[in-house]
Amino acid sequence: MDEITIRTPDDWHVHLRDGDALKAVAGHTAAQFARAIIMPNLTPPLTRVADVAAYRERIMAALPTGADFTPLMTLYLTDGMPPETIREGKSTGVVTAAKLYPAHATTNSAAGVTAIDRIMPALEAMAAVGMPLCVHGEVTDRDVDIFDREAVFIDRTLAPLVARLPELKIVFEHITTRQAVDFVTASGPNVAATITPQHLHLNRNAIFDGGLRPHAYCLPVLKGEEHRRAVRAAAVSGSAKFFLGTDSAPHLRGAKESSCGCAGIFNAPFALESYVTVFDEEGALDRFEGFAGEHGARFYGLPLNDGTLTLERTELSVPAEIDGYIPFHAGETLTWRVVRPTSE
Ligand code: DOR
Ligand code: ZN
Repeated sequence: MDEITIRTPDDWHVHLRDGDALKAVAGHTAAQFARAIIMPNLTPPLTRVADVAAYRERIMAALPTGADFTPLMTLYLTDGMPPETIREGKSTGVVTAAKLYPAHATTNSAAGVTAIDRIMPALEAMAAVGMPLCVHGEVTDRDVDIFDREAVFIDRTLAPLVARLPELKIVFEHITTRQAVDFVTASGPNVAATITPQHLHLNRNAIFDGGLRPHAYCLPVLKGEEHRRAVRAAAVSGSAKFFLGTDSAPHLRGAKESSCGCAGIFNAPFALESYVTVFDEEGALDRFEGFAGEHGARFYGLPLNDGTLTLERTELSVPAEIDGYIPFHAGETLTWRVVRPTSE
């Protein structure tokens, strides 16, 4: 197969940032996806419905002219979040999902949740109104090895939460381990997971490949090969529990190439090319449409997109830098390319 046409896909997890960064990156996501779940970890974080609505306006204003793209907005959960905020987010149509960042787990998560008990009223309200919870699934305990933080989170936090509130829809974001794949697979239909391109392509050796590689550093950190294989198998399995979420997380080059570099991989410009390569390598091109354009929408209870998008097998050189950001696969040649719709 040298060409594949799929239902227009969606990105179920992306960081579009704000200000100049938003203007630089938003068009890349809008060029590949019809909709995306937009992360709320701005400075300050989006903890009120009015903040989320204002951010949605800034995103719309930053899109290139003529872009056909719908940002699906999220609220940033903090300790003591009033359930009224959840109900307001739902009834106004502003908020699609709410995000759980364990405090200090990642970029701009200092205002995150210190203990799940502190957001139970909000989570119960979410279950009642049918609003999904997006979870950054890592413990933040410094005594836990960084490569084990996702697996420990399942045992300490996620499994007890699912048992306590089985009606709540939970998206286990950017899964990186065999344990996460197994947990999601064994859970009921209200538990699903997103998968990034970097966790399909790379294992942790990439961070130390001939020297320290800041552009391969993201959170949750890349894991060992056994885990990469498990995540890959889940992505191409055809299971409706696993779907596309890039976690594209741009930081300017200087913020990554630093004595304390930021976590995040900017994969938005060639996200679909990156993902389809994996499905091709696994002999699973027939399952790409489900992963990229169907499973996520169904989980979120949203209509499937009407349009289509075509990818063709042809060489594509990924630039070394784009507007001050280093893209995923920088300097490499990919073997697929999105065919841009030609104007009539
Ligand atoms: O690598 C990451 N970057 N992981 C996250 O969870 C946050 C993100 C960011 O906002 O930079
Ligand atoms: Zn993220």
